[in-house]
Amino acid sequence: MTTIAVIGPGAIGGTLAAWLAQDPALQVIVCARTPLDDLVIETPHGTITAKPVVLTRPDDAPVVDWVLVATKTYDVEATGPWLRQLVGQGTRVAIVQNGVEQVRLFQHLVPAEQLVPVIINLPAARSAPGRIVQQRKGFIWAPDGDNGAALVALFGQTEIEAVVAPDFVSRAWIKLCGNCGAIVPTLTLRATGPVWTDDLEAIVRGVAEECAAVGRAEGAVIGQDVVEGTVEMARSMADETRVSSIHADRLAGNRMEIDARNGVIVRLGEQHGIATPMNKVLVTLLAASGSPWVK
Ligand SMILES: NC(=O)c1ccc[n+]([C@@H]2O[C@H](COP(=O)([O-])OP(=O)(O)OC[C@H]3O[C@@H](n4cnc5c(N)ncnc54)[C@H](OP(=O)(O)O)[C@@H]3O)[C@@H](O)[C@H]2O)c1
Repeated sequence: MTTIAVIGPGAIGGTLAAWLAQDPALQVIVCARTPLDDLVIETPHGTITAKPVVLTRPDDAPVVDWVLVATKTYDVEATGPWLRQLVGQGTRVAIVQNGVEQVRLFQHLVPAEQLVPVIINLPAARSAPGRIVQQRKGFIWAPDGDNGAALVALFGQTEIEAVVAPDFVSRAWIKLCGNCGAIVPTLTLRATGPVWTDDLEAIVRGVAEECAAVGRAEGAVIGQDVVEGTVEMARSMADETRVSSIHADRLAGNRMEIDARNGVIVRLGEQHGIATPMNKVLVTLLAASGSPWVK
């Protein structure tokens, strides 16, 4: 029996835990901040349920074969007490978070060779503890190699399509290029399509161009089509109800993943000597937008 602990049973962690719990060869433990009784996930493949072991105290956690970290990126430090209990010498730790710094953010908590960065495309929303709607089919990418292959194997019995990405760095940066433009509607609180102008296009394009430039300096291969795709996505965004997670977090008054989505472009840009004025201005404005949170 392979043991898997999921830290953070929110929209992503809850959905992954429920899918993995469908496989009788896997024992799933949920490490929660807010207690929950069970998981009920409405998926495109039907409703799935699971009743995993739920722990709320790190001291109760055993050493496991796998840990999946699915907290928001600003909650890295809060996972420390869990990781200290759950991780042994043979434990692999998958970081299922947006951004491009999954390994960098956790390597002071777990030896880098045990970390498995993960890119996930799986739109999901939580309405209450353990109650989640998975809106579309889920896809997961892990780096090529033994750790990535082992992660892919974990999802073999689920409806989530997990694959290794031979060029994981590019995959991560291409996703960030797609995500970084969402800072604009998060600031204006309006879908971009209805207010599209040449000036707005210049802002969205600038944000994406800067992301691509920094990503290339980090070793990613990013074609101009990726930038054009971000602009096109923003241009055609007509629906005020289908907002990105950062926009939804601002609407809900939640803390936002500003640093992982746009701040990182500014920080790494500075390291590479690449100017990122568009991202810097928008990050500064969003951080000062009335939310008590600065990241
Ligand atoms: N949702 C999506 O559609 C989606 C898609 C792709 C990628 N992502 C990325 O996936 C990551 C997770 O996002 P999400 O939407 O799943 O966030 P979420 O719904 O807010 O879930 C985060 C979970 O982490 C828990 N948590 C925080 N600190 C904890 C701690 N110390 N111990 C245990 N649990 C803790 C939270 O607890 P509480 O229950 O107390 O809040 C919550 O259950 C983010 O990086 C996000 O950008 C999300």
